[in-house]
Amino acid sequence: MKSYKIALIKGDGIGPEIIDEAVKVLDAVASCFDFHFTYEEVLMGGCAYDITGDPLPQETITTALNSDAVLFGAIGGEKWDNLPREKRPESGLLRFRKELGVYANLRPAVVYDELINASSLKPEVVKGVDLMVVRELIGGIYFGEPKGRDENKGWNTMVYTREEIVRIAHQAFKIAMERSKRVCSIDKANVLDVSQLWREVVEEVAKEYPEVELSHMYVDNAAMQLIRDPKQFDVMLTGNIFGDILSDEASMLSGSIGLLPSASVGAKIGVYEPIHGSAPDIAGQGIANPIATISSASMMLRYALGEIAAADKIDAAIKRALSEGYRTKDLAQYDAKEVCSTSEMGSIIANYSAKCKH
Ligand code: IPM
Ligand code: MG
Repeated sequence: MKSYKIALIKGDGIGPEIIDEAVKVLDAVASCFDFHFTYEEVLMGGCAYDITGDPLPQETITTALNSDAVLFGAIGGEKWDNLPREKRPESGLLRFRKELGVYANLRPAVVYDELINASSLKPEVVKGVDLMVVRELIGGIYFGEPKGRDENKGWNTMVYTREEIVRIAHQAFKIAMERSKRVCSIDKANVLDVSQLWREVVEEVAKEYPEVELSHMYVDNAAMQLIRDPKQFDVMLTGNIFGDILSDEASMLSGSIGLLPSASVGAKIGVYEPIHGSAPDIAGQGIANPIATISSASMMLRYALGEIAAADKIDAAIKRALSEGYRTKDLAQYDAKEVCSTSEMGSIIANYSAKCKH
């Protein structure tokens, strides 16, 4: 029997609760297939800082690199907001992404028919939305030098090299080939030199994918178009900070940020995590929505382990739970037949995932 080694990073806030549910679902689906999981739990974020003085201990990197994939909860919280920047949980996460080399962040935004009323937009605007933000993750203004601050000035630099743009563009075009063969590249080429290079390089890479239709859009317009008519988008290719912002925006099309998964890939080991944060305000109450994390576990099966049938089963189980009216508190107002806790939702999806006919 195949055995997959998964590094688990539960993190802070609701992180531990939602990861526990994803593990429950992974074990349930494995019972139907010819594989099983072993997990190694490692620390990152505020909890790692509290214990070791470092938000990203070396052991975490080593364990991640020796695993088949990383399943990640969430990090951060007010408690650590006043630490020096390099000790903050977020700095640990950025360093982790960089160390692993996961330069491509895939953030699908799908609107479930069952939750069509949960979006703040009109049902006819969001029905059928199925887009993928392909966000560059280890470059751009998050990492550019020089950066710094003194008492009266703070500065960061948005830098992209040709090589960085080429590799993320290839990811976007490859993904588009599996979808509806459309890429919209987002930039601010009317103002930024870095965006001008971005646009030129994306045009060059596009020549290798003649079947894919490429368009360009300024980021401000893209933010507006996402709300006006989100169905015009399929793959949205973006740099680091634009993708950070637009993927949060895209998540609200689906009604709750608690639904959306992500995959950070491009290197040997990928990181699979919900796009939402650690929500310290609701931690420990059993009301967090575990679906984004369960769905990230499904992306892990699909992209990292090639267990497509198992991933499909989890996706179907999530849909079934929603269509039967199970809702966590964030979605309780929307056609709920039964409001359930974090762990009840996990158990329902695990139970459906473990039905072995496939
Ligand atoms: C995300 C988060 C992170 C980011 C933070 C926590 C560093 O917002 O994954 O979108 O900005 O990349
Ligand atoms: Mg973000």
